[in-house]
Amino acid sequence: MDQINLRDMQALAKKRLPRLLYDYLDGGTHDELTLNGNIGDFERLKFIPPVLADVSQVDLSTTIFGERLSMPLILGPVGSLGVLSRRGDIATARAAEACGITSCLSTTAVASVEEVCAARKEPIWFQLYVMKEPGHHDQLIQRAKAARCKALVFTVDSAVSAQRDRDLRHGYSYTGKVRPSNLLDMLTRVAWIRDVLFGPRLSFGSMPGGKSNYKRIMAKAGGGLIAKDVTWDTFREIRAKWDGPLVIKGVMTPQDALKALGYGADGIVVSNHGGRQLDSAISSIMALGPIVDAVNDRAVVMMDGGIRRGQHVVKALAMGAKACLIGRGYAYGLAARGQAGVEQSIEMLRKEMAMTMGMLGCREVGELRRELLHDGQWTF
Ligand code: LAC
Repeated sequence: MDQINLRDMQALAKKRLPRLLYDYLDGGTHDELTLNGNIGDFERLKFIPPVLADVSQVDLSTTIFGERLSMPLILGPVGSLGVLSRRGDIATARAAEACGITSCLSTTAVASVEEVCAARKEPIWFQLYVMKEPGHHDQLIQRAKAARCKALVFTVDSAVSAQRDRDLRHGYSYTGKVRPSNLLDMLTRVAWIRDVLFGPRLSFGSMPGGKSNYKRIMAKAGGGLIAKDVTWDTFREIRAKWDGPLVIKGVMTPQDALKALGYGADGIVVSNHGGRQLDSAISSIMALGPIVDAVNDRAVVMMDGGIRRGQHVVKALAMGAKACLIGRGYAYGLAARGQAGVEQSIEMLRKEMAMTMGMLGCREVGELRRELLHDGQWTF
């Protein structure tokens, strides 16, 4: 097989996707310092391995909100998956199911929550943005409830639309227009054209006016669709309307994590939106430890940002996360090969995780602990 790790999947995605779509997926805000820092800080963090434990059986499984997962990995919400690959949101949810894990559908997905939940046995998680359109998020909460979604993931770091320089250069950032140079590039991506453009019409099942076409939504999104006046009162309101597990995604400080607990959060995703929002924010792995300590097991702490290897998941778990979400990590696989590509990406991470845990003498994820980590500085 030519693809042995996520970087290989990324290279394949780059070949297959029109350049502007690849850059939308791959890029981050401004200088991409946080995007790169998320990965760099995982690489700087080291292991200190103990030896001579019987590791003939390594079990990666875990339970999150009462649901057994074959490994502590969740496919996080990524918008527009259906533009990367035909019915990409459904392919993603199905791949997660085939691999015994779960996935979270984005508000900015192409497929609707009803379609995706109908495509697998167990319902998925649903990510909620509060949009400017009044009453829209109430409807989404009702729809997620009716579709029996397991958890609601309220994303709180996107009130301000970020300037992603790569998108701006392509003229992609919500202008709804494609430049002639992009059009020429697009015409060379024959496999993508056949897969996506010749596929079902692209509409956005959970967006305001979601039945209208892609171009109209993008044009409308010019001023930013996400509400800017979202506060803790909004969180309280959502908590009152959603009785299942409520997760807050985008928390970076222990103070906010404690506040979220006070407002009734069941889960916290430590996240800087994969470096797609505030550039120069600290990495997620750096933010994780203090939040784990502050929460002290009163909510399920998860993280995302920078995961490109199973070792990175193991480092986050050793730091105290209960599970990791990935975004680009599987979206590259989806763009490269559809559902099979997502499954391959998950299995790559599974293999790397199992091997790493074995080398750390850990048979279960619960055995991972902070003393296995070293910050990479000399100490004499
Ligand atoms: C993004 C939004 C859709 O990061 O969450 O592009």
